[in-house]
Amino acid sequence: MPEAIATPGRLVPPVPLADAATPSSRRLLWHYRTNGLRAWPKAAYHDDLFVREMFGRTTVLLNRPDDIRHVLVENDGNYGRTRPGIRIIRPLLGMQGLFLATGDDWRRQRRSAAPAFAPRAVPGFARHSAEALAEALAELPADGGAGIELLAWFQGLALDVAGRALLSLPLRAQAPQIRAILDGYGRRYGKPGFLDFFLPLGFPGPRDLARRLFQRRWFRLVDSIIAAREKTQPTAAGGDLFDVLAAPDGSGPGRETLRSRVATFLVAGHETTAVTLFWTCWLLAQAPDWQERIATEAAMLDLGPDGAADAVTQLDATRAVVNEALRLYPPAFVIVRMAKGCDRLSSGAVTAGSVMMIAPWVLHRHRRLWDDPDAFAPQRFLPGAPPPDRFAFLPFGAGPRVCIGASLAMVEAVLATAALVRRYRLGLDGDGPPVQPVAIVTTQPDRRPGFRLDRR
Ligand code: HEM
Repeated sequence: MPEAIATPGRLVPPVPLADAATPSSRRLLWHYRTNGLRAWPKAAYHDDLFVREMFGRTTVLLNRPDDIRHVLVENDGNYGRTRPGIRIIRPLLGMQGLFLATGDDWRRQRRSAAPAFAPRAVPGFARHSAEALAEALAELPADGGAGIELLAWFQGLALDVAGRALLSLPLRAQAPQIRAILDGYGRRYGKPGFLDFFLPLGFPGPRDLARRLFQRRWFRLVDSIIAAREKTQPTAAGGDLFDVLAAPDGSGPGRETLRSRVATFLVAGHETTAVTLFWTCWLLAQAPDWQERIATEAAMLDLGPDGAADAVTQLDATRAVVNEALRLYPPAFVIVRMAKGCDRLSSGAVTAGSVMMIAPWVLHRHRRLWDDPDAFAPQRFLPGAPPPDRFAFLPFGAGPRVCIGASLAMVEAVLATAALVRRYRLGLDGDGPPVQPVAIVTTQPDRRPGFRLDRR
């Protein structure tokens, strides 16, 4: 593996690697607890299949696009979520929301939520993104400045967009409170512990009890958001996603179910988009030539609420940069499934109980699937460039459980990047240590670097 990622103008630290090809289970757990991105050795970035044991279970990292298609699409019914995965996500989303629901409940929810994310919803997403952006931009110093913490700014923006687009409720004012509680969870409980692998889901370990306490506090906050929404009229004439979540069968779900459904869209609907925007701007801060391309293509466009839907279709260079950031720093760094029964992949047999890992983090930097995989090269996503294999570029997953909010995320990320770069030249403050990606529920920076914004 090359020593560094060749980003124009600045070297980015090398991809963190595991210190041994086949570490002991305890060592592997230590990797997951400190930084899950460091769990794979060099071979994982070269091979089609990377197999090892962890606490007596076979774990298989899949890097062949046809194997990935088989697990996520062709035989997806044979693969479910794993105990540690559910334990980490359950306190944030509850079990009844779209992300963790299964079987008929999942199918019903997915079918009823789908129209809110259909192509005809995209102009509304663009309008809501532009309105939230206008308010957020007004909070940045008009002439620019140094030491600006953009991750928190993006989190506030993404929460506000999710609130407006899905619940007809601006959420900018509540963002600091929501973020404080979610960040605390990520730091303390967002990584797996030893017992998470062994205890049946119905048996709580000490960590689960602490997670339950967190969930009580978090769901009280979600209740207050639901109460605020119930006093508001939906902005869209035919209702919004909240109306769908509150009454999918016409009868209306119980309070606990509604809480879980709303929490799912609040968390999934902003956390990943905010880190995408962070990594996009962090890469751009080191690539002034791409900033100029974006500023030029955005210069004459109307990025305001009335023009945003049209503008977003014309921001090809901006979209290419966002896609390249999603490739190099995929927020969902790994998609994990457990085989319920035996199966056969093109690269070999799967035994029941095996853990299948599809790691966008590894897949997007795989030596055989990408040219110059460590380079920041947004041109690979420009119109006219050969598109990557559908199952080699998976920032939003694939198959029946593919991300339902991908269109909202892309519209929002493209508009926000264009608006920010059109207004300011981005740079990084000082000579601090390089920012390292760490896996804490999503791919986060290990510290929050200050950005320098120079008004154009
Ligand atoms: C850049 C931003 C985003 C990324 C990278 C992302 C990534 C993903 C991925 C990889 C999955 C599939 C997980 C799996 O198969 O186990 C997923 C599912 C999901 N995402 Fe996103 N997501 C993003 C934004 C959003 C937004 C904006 C929303 C909501 C408005 C959202 C809501 C969901 C939900 C509800 C699911 C579960 C779908 C199901 O199981 O049917 N996501 N996302």
